[in-house]
Amino acid sequence: MTGKTILLVIGGGIAAFKTLDLIRRLRERGHRVVPVLTKAATEFVTPLSVSALAGEKVYQDLFDLNDEAEMGHIELSRAADLVVVAPATADLMAKMANGHANDLASTMLMATDKRVLIAPSMNVRMWEHAATQRNLATLTKDGILTSGPNEGDMACGEFGFGRMAEPMEILAAAESALNDGPLKGRHVLVTSGPTHEPIDPVRYIANRSSGAQGAAIAQALLAQGAKVTFVSGPADVAAPMGVDLVPVQTAAEMLDAVNAVKDVDVGIFAAAVADWRVASASDQKIKKDGNGLPVLDFAENPDILATVCASKSRPKLVIGFAAETQNVVENATAKRKRKGCDWIVANDVSPETGIMGGAENDVVLISANGAEDWPRMGKGQVAERLAMKIAEELGG
Ligand code: CTP
Repeated sequence: MTGKTILLVIGGGIAAFKTLDLIRRLRERGHRVVPVLTKAATEFVTPLSVSALAGEKVYQDLFDLNDEAEMGHIELSRAADLVVVAPATADLMAKMANGHANDLASTMLMATDKRVLIAPSMNVRMWEHAATQRNLATLTKDGILTSGPNEGDMACGEFGFGRMAEPMEILAAAESALNDGPLKGRHVLVTSGPTHEPIDPVRYIANRSSGAQGAAIAQALLAQGAKVTFVSGPADVAAPMGVDLVPVQTAAEMLDAVNAVKDVDVGIFAAAVADWRVASASDQKIKKDGNGLPVLDFAENPDILATVCASKSRPKLVIGFAAETQNVVENATAKRKRKGCDWIVANDVSPETGIMGGAENDVVLISANGAEDWPRMGKGQVAERLAMKIAEELGG
């Protein structure tokens, strides 16, 4: 990505020290950072350190005649490509949600015509307070993007949600917001990873999926500018930064999570969903009680892909995967018809291929036009090629 200009509003919270690192990270990526400090922010970081790291003048006062002569606050807020607020305190969020404009930061946030990304940071009780949650809902409805907050230990000694997202997470969210790729404005749902189907509270049935292909696809879609909702089972590979992550365990939870996602343009079903679950999973650990071996009764799991394909809110483009160990093209072609999806990414997951859990993939793309054989390549490359094909399909 070529360097962009980011107007960085620093609020008055203890996490402001992490914003110093964010400035470094943004500049390492070639972006220009124009800092604005609220009055409270100066209690936590000094204008001198911010200015030194940003290599820019720091803006602080609404009624600074020098600033107005050089670059007025309206112009300042529009010259940027993106506005980032980090830390976004409860007070700043409240001001933004209610349209206050009584200092330079809030006035610029009102005057800007650019996208705004906030990284909330506050005590867990303040975060959970009905007023903050109401303000968050308003801001989300207004199109304000958020990164974090994360769960963890806080400077105030409590534990919970409210910790500002890490600088690298904010950077990823900022770059995703800045992205002007061909999938900008498109919402893509990706399912990924295995599912875990409980036998009892300590045991479960799973499969060998690592979630690597699904994560790579989400990453490639983000890079093309898409908004990605990532519904993931317990995978080995971490979800890429910048997705809206919905973690699930079982197939039933995955179906509920998928059904709750609205306004999807493209659905990609890369998860290796367990076909069966234990019909009456035990609430207590099953003991060796001398009465012989336990017998597990199975029930069939819902087919998430087929359910979505048959639903009224079916996305325009639905892409399934087919994990096969024999007759890959024949089986996947039949699967495409049976499930009602547009494309199937078919792969041979026989152990000797090393694909399941490995770094590479060897796929055949099945569509109404027939089968397209792709050479064996890294899962990242498969993902990029798929993302490009999706962009072509939607653009045409
Ligand atoms: N899938 C799903 N829900 C299920 C099972 C599978 O959404 N309960 C999706 C997978 O995410 C994948 C596609 O269906 O996109 C095919 O999965 P696969 O495991 O290859 O097929 P199965 O439905 O299990 O069919 P078969 O048992 O015939 O291989």
